[in-house]
Amino acid sequence: MKDRLEAIYRESREAVQKISNLKALEEIRVQILGRKGRLTALLHGLKDLPSEKRAAAGQAANEVKHQLLQLIEERVIKLKNSGWASDQEGSIDPTLPGRPPEMGRLHILNRTLREIEEIFTAMGFAVVEGPEVETDYYNFESMNFPTEHPARDMHDTFFISDKILLRTHTSPVQMRLMEEQSPPIRAIMPGKTYRVDDDATHSAMFHQVEGLLVDREVSFAELKEVLALFIHRIFGEKARLRFRPSFFPFTEPSAEVDMTCVKCAGRGCSLCKGTGWMEILGAGMVHPGVLRAGRIDPEAYTGFAFGMGVERIAMLKYGIDNIRYFFENDLRFLEQF
Ligand code: FA5
Repeated sequence: MKDRLEAIYRESREAVQKISNLKALEEIRVQILGRKGRLTALLHGLKDLPSEKRAAAGQAANEVKHQLLQLIEERVIKLKNSGWASDQEGSIDPTLPGRPPEMGRLHILNRTLREIEEIFTAMGFAVVEGPEVETDYYNFESMNFPTEHPARDMHDTFFISDKILLRTHTSPVQMRLMEEQSPPIRAIMPGKTYRVDDDATHSAMFHQVEGLLVDREVSFAELKEVLALFIHRIFGEKARLRFRPSFFPFTEPSAEVDMTCVKCAGRGCSLCKGTGWMEILGAGMVHPGVLRAGRIDPEAYTGFAFGMGVERIAMLKYGIDNIRYFFENDLRFLEQF
């Protein structure tokens, strides 16, 4: 009896350990522990033993049964975890096409930014960057916003201390560039900007691209031509521009530039509030005081500057109606581009 039990245990354990699929494992279980299984037959035979041996033999047989059940259970878990478990022999089909790896892509704002950069670099503009943490001097003072000037209220500013702030626009990079370089200067300055702002079209952090061209006899006509070229490249040849008089402390004259509505092409719709036009950027001729602060002689040189919101351009180009979509990082939104 003892030898038979040992043989059943040894042989069953070897068989279970060799098994590599669940169906074959179940067959082994039935052969050992099923109604007509080897161990079940041995258990039935216990009743024929003399009564003094029956109890000890029954205990030994039950122990072997328990150990084998445990072995089978462990094997099931191992097979399931290894990914090899299956009810069918050879269930891995190597002819099936593989799963393609997920491809990352550029965020739509970076794509828009790169497109803007490509258009301007093709026109001979350099790309220059400046700090996001700025001094009051570069952000405001040097750009002709004296302390207490009401124009400062146009920018709701995140101050870090009295004189240090998060830049509210990319215009301070103009000043840093003028200080470093003598004319001719022809550059765009992209980057993050910050204002205490939050609604469907305004965000506390957003991106701007500044443009600056300083040389002898630069005129407003050239500013118009450069901006028209840019708008046509990014929005198509049919887009038309309109310059509206405006005010920025650092440009004179100043203009806000509108283009024909991307949705109705100028006929008037809900998007453009019936006007047929949409504001796209601010621009103007660099103020003589700003040139002087940048150590450039306004008698010898003139220049133009412009500044646009990158989110605004992307929203118009792709018909996005809420700025928050850019920053929520919801793949259902991002994967559309
Ligand atoms: C300026 O910031 C000027 N520095 C632009 C400029 C440069 C004018 C050079 C003349 C010469 P403005 O405050 O209008 O201007 O902002 C420019 C653009 O930034 C706006 O048209 C808008 O598209 C974008 N913008 C402004 N505030 C936000 C905001 N909170 N969220 C998203 N975009 C914004």
